[in-house]
Amino acid sequence: MCGIVGYVGFRNATDVLMEGLKRLEYRGYDSAGVAVKVGGRLEVLKKAGKLSVLGDVLKDEKLPGHFGIGHTRWATHGAPNDPNAHPHTTEDGRIAVIHNGIIENYLPLKEGLLARGHHFTSETDSEVLAHLIEEKYDALPGSPGRLVEAVRQVLQEVYGAYALVVAHQDHEEIVVARTVSPLVIGLGEGENFVASDVPALLPYTRRVIFLHDGDMAVVSRAGVEVTDLRGNPVEREVVEVDWSLEAAEKGGHPHYMLKEIYEQPRVLENTLGGRLHEEHANVELDLNLDPARYDRIHVIACGTAYYAGWVGKYLIESLARIPVEIDVASEYRYRDPVVDERTLAVAISQSGETIDTLEALREAKRKGAGTLGVINAKGSSITREVDDTLYIHAGPEIGVASTKAYMAMLGAMAMLAVWLGRARGTLAEADAKEFLGELRKLPRLVEQALEQRAHVAHIAEKYHQAADYLFLGRHIQAPTAYEGALKLKEISYIHAEAYPAGEMKHGPIALIDERLPVVVLTTDSPFYEKTLSNIQEVRARGGRVIAVATEGDLEARRFAQDVIYVPRTHHLLAPVVSVVPLQLLAYETAVLLGRDVDQPRNLAKSVTVE
Ligand code: AGP
Repeated sequence: MCGIVGYVGFRNATDVLMEGLKRLEYRGYDSAGVAVKVGGRLEVLKKAGKLSVLGDVLKDEKLPGHFGIGHTRWATHGAPNDPNAHPHTTEDGRIAVIHNGIIENYLPLKEGLLARGHHFTSETDSEVLAHLIEEKYDALPGSPGRLVEAVRQVLQEVYGAYALVVAHQDHEEIVVARTVSPLVIGLGEGENFVASDVPALLPYTRRVIFLHDGDMAVVSRAGVEVTDLRGNPVEREVVEVDWSLEAAEKGGHPHYMLKEIYEQPRVLENTLGGRLHEEHANVELDLNLDPARYDRIHVIACGTAYYAGWVGKYLIESLARIPVEIDVASEYRYRDPVVDERTLAVAISQSGETIDTLEALREAKRKGAGTLGVINAKGSSITREVDDTLYIHAGPEIGVASTKAYMAMLGAMAMLAVWLGRARGTLAEADAKEFLGELRKLPRLVEQALEQRAHVAHIAEKYHQAADYLFLGRHIQAPTAYEGALKLKEISYIHAEAYPAGEMKHGPIALIDERLPVVVLTTDSPFYEKTLSNIQEVRARGGRVIAVATEGDLEARRFAQDVIYVPRTHHLLAPVVSVVPLQLLAYETAVLLGRDVDQPRNLAKSVTVE
């Protein structure tokens, strides 16, 4: 996620901005920049690469001002290079803008601006905001509130996710606005601060205001005025944060993994944001692939990414009716796969650096396959070797156990399935619109699933001494069972295995006894009754069943000792809401067992060696 810092006060603004951005580095980024008011003008310096690159330039070109804004960018639209780094400015440099998030309708807005004679220097959606604000500002009469009014008018025209920070050379104030992407204000004496996260503020103040979605604020030396998007004042609590710096980097959570589990609604917004177009019954993935070229798909990935690919198999075969083979990359690369130029190899990877996935991709390419990456990390090795990349926009994932990246991968695979289905004519317009409507609800449904945390913690307490766990799921919930088992084993070190529910009677049923917790994914689906009978088979042998069921399902409660309810959604999207309680079960169990949740033993975040 990008880092934002803003300052107005008496200190050297450049020092405050650089110190703050350094404290946000853990969020991951690929370029950085600052805009500082010097001698009545906003001076902008921005460089691709790490903060040290910008710091070296600032050693020579000092910016001795007391008012400025700074940014570290995690690239979404446009490569990580100098022109695409923030701040973005108007052509005359009067206005500087930094932005976290995605402006979904930036393309038509940019076309309008180009038609009205504006010139752009970057490929980003964010730069559009600077030019729009300039137009509104110049059309308004001179007044102290001119800048905030111009920003307010622009925000009526854009939609998407943003943490927006605006500076104008003629106003010693910072105008900010927040929708989906977080923004925090720090309160000082004769100085005030803005940041995307608390750590940047801690050297200067612990009095903060957490802006809510739909809030705007004007931050000056004299004080802070918070309003809604229409300019109506709103009251926001001033919070005294007592976090240590380390705790602050985890958003007040005890572990990065828990912070990332709770980031999932926002991550899903970013993954889906701007790409769902119900009005056209399609998605906009900005891919240069030709679906007509392919008659089969090979998904290659490892670990959690592999399970995302398995969910993707069900989605793509259901909506696009094209055969999908899935392989763990370490097997694919040695099995002499049947591949030709009509094969599309899809490499799924959070890091984009997993060597098994990279080598399997190369094997597919050698045999003539077209290639697509479904990747989180911009500019990673796999993105440089595929024909095209569908970025999942999960932001940097610090916890070794993948959670939010998995969620983002599921969102990406669902969109890919729609795109292929519409292109191949196997997904009717009405069905596509209905499915997209269900996709758009998912961030809120994940938010609701997270509300079960206390109940899940209670279940973890009951079973955390178990030596083994069994996870069962059917159809598209089979990969969910495998992902749940992987989460539990990799952070709690409890042996956990997963099976397709229908397979239990072919062997695993011999494992069932009163010591074995059995997690069963039994959400609403055309196969619900079959899975319910699996639960009864387990109970009949004294097994302990933990059912993950659709809210309102009383049948599950009749047969399972414990039930965790998840919100209702399309059965092909059930894995998105169902994985949340499994992530929480693994997390709470690992904490109870005193494990190193963020860096479990023997594991690395990215396996770049064979
Ligand atoms: C996930 O919790 C694991 N840490 C691991 O299985 C991971 O998913 C796998 O190594 C693949 O990593 P990638 O997505 O970066 O390629």
